[in-house]
Amino acid sequence: MAATTVLATCALLLPLLASISLAGAAPLDPQQLVALRALGLRAHHRADPCDDDANGGAVTASCDAGVPFRRVTSLVLANCSGTTSVSAGALEALAPSLRALAFSDCPASPPRLLLRRIAPPPLRRNLTELTVADTPLATGSPSELAVVVSHMDHLTRLTLSNANLSGFLPHHWHCPNLTHLDLSGNRITGAIPETLTLLSAITNLNLSSNDLNGDIPTSIGDLISLTTIDLSNNSISGGIPDTVPTLPELEVLNLGSNRLNGSIPSFLAEMRGLKELNLENNDFDGMVPFTAKFVARLRVFRVAGNPKLCYNRSGLSAEVAVGVAPCDKYGFPVTAPPATARSERSADYDDGAKDGDADDGADTRGGPSAVVLGVAIGLSCLAFAVILLVCLCKVCR
Ligand SMILES: *[C@@H]1O[C@H](CO)[C@@H](O)[C@H](O)[C@H]1NC(C)=O
Ligand SMILES: *[C@@H]1O[C@H](CO)[C@@H](O)[C@H](O)[C@H]1NC(C)=O
Ligand SMILES: *[C@@H]1O[C@H](CO)[C@@H](O)[C@H](O)[C@H]1NC(C)=O
Ligand SMILES: *[C@@H]1O[C@H](CO)[C@@H](O)[C@H](O)[C@H]1NC(C)=O
Ligand SMILES: *[C@@H]1O[C@H](CO)[C@@H](O)[C@H](O)[C@H]1NC(C)=O
Ligand SMILES: *[C@@H]1O[C@H](CO)[C@@H](O)[C@H](O)[C@H]1NC(C)=O
Ligand SMILES: *[C@@H]1O[C@H](CO)[C@@H](O)[C@H](O)[C@H]1NC(C)=O
Ligand SMILES: *[C@@H]1O[C@H](CO)[C@@H](O)[C@H](O)[C@H]1NC(C)=O
Repeated sequence: MAATTVLATCALLLPLLASISLAGAAPLDPQQLVALRALGLRAHHRADPCDDDANGGAVTASCDAGVPFRRVTSLVLANCSGTTSVSAGALEALAPSLRALAFSDCPASPPRLLLRRIAPPPLRRNLTELTVADTPLATGSPSELAVVVSHMDHLTRLTLSNANLSGFLPHHWHCPNLTHLDLSGNRITGAIPETLTLLSAITNLNLSSNDLNGDIPTSIGDLISLTTIDLSNNSISGGIPDTVPTLPELEVLNLGSNRLNGSIPSFLAEMRGLKELNLENNDFDGMVPFTAKFVARLRVFRVAGNPKLCYNRSGLSAEVAVGVAPCDKYGFPVTAPPATARSERSADYDDGAKDGDADDGADTRGGPSAVVLGVAIGLSCLAFAVILLVCLCKVCR
């Protein structure tokens, strides 16, 4: 039955194929054309949807220059209207030549169908790039991620972002050529395993916006090709491992919105190539250990939202340490820092004031300080009332 359909399609297409062959490039493999149609390629694309990125439809394909037939090497299904019908037969027909496959904002129904379709080894074994973005791909099983990454030895780029993935990061990776790993925006939990070092070729690591916890593994320093690390918006705790500055190519380090604590290590300033450093919304304490010269070299520098952190007024200015309070002479923040103003050049701080003795008084000016003062007075009154009550009770007894 399927065979007759294919034959009929071929017969219909033959004249078209012939005319295109005359024009130069070989036509697309007829079976693969049928497969593309099954995946939603619009009928008006006739015989050659290859390299046709102006089609405005949901399916975009790139093809090789094969003879007698070209074959699909890369397939993107994006912005699908409604849900995609991901036919197993269609993917099977594309598998021998397909190297890159992407589903972007292209949900299948039910979501787990997509995982079941891309899971069979024949399809995965030859893929070098797989993207599932803004498309649910979930079974709820704790090992679903391991299922996806197993048997993908040739993988160089893997993106599974906003894909509703849960479970743990796999302990075993067999992706020696993987350079880009983006698992952001899922519900992945547990610690980052030390065996992440099996990804020896990795350059871009994005695990942001998951539920990861535990420490940053010290073995991360073995991944010497890393240029970007984004672990932001998780529940990662502990300190920044001292192996991080041994990463020679690192340009972006985003550890914002976690539960990291301890002091910010000064060794980060040794990283010559660093361009973006985000440590905001953590629990770091002590003094920001950087010089103005180091910070000036950075494109992005964020340390706000660390209530116990402060900066050395003789070394840095309020413009640089946005959202951080200056240190008093004992190395503690003089007051709570202002609300995390990102781009506002804070005028509330008196940069000229070099005297370390300028205590709280220096900061009880301006808009936000008035609120702080009000709250402080309120709290004092409350405390006074409580003490009074306790005393009264003692007297009454
Ligand atoms: C999908 O839609 C978004 C916004 O509507 C657009 O920016 C993006 O380029 C589209 N992607 C593709 C592959 O057509
Ligand atoms: C993988 O690619 C090779 C070379 O193109 C091809 O011969 C082989 O059939 C493909 N494997 C699968 C399972 O499609
Ligand atoms: C995400 O996965 C959970 C099961 O882990 C499921 O209950 C939920 O419906 C999924 N959400 C979407 C949008 O598919
Ligand atoms: C990894 O890449 C190298 C060089 O591009 C290649 O020779 C090798 O076959 C690849 N290994 C795998 C498992 O794909
Ligand atoms: C990581 O992924 C998130 C969400 O997809 C994105 O906003 C962020 O820019 C990525 N980080 C890097 C360093 O590319
Ligand atoms: C942080 O992650 C949560 C889910 O874990 C998500 O809802 C939220 O949008 C993320 N925030 C940012 C700024 O990415
Ligand atoms: C960081 O927090 C953990 C757990 O709350 C605590 O055990 C540890 O002592 C803290 N480390 C520092 C340097 O404050
Ligand atoms: C603050 O910075 C100045 C100038 O860089 C330096 O001399 C001083 O020792 C620093 N204070 C502390 C407590 O580190």
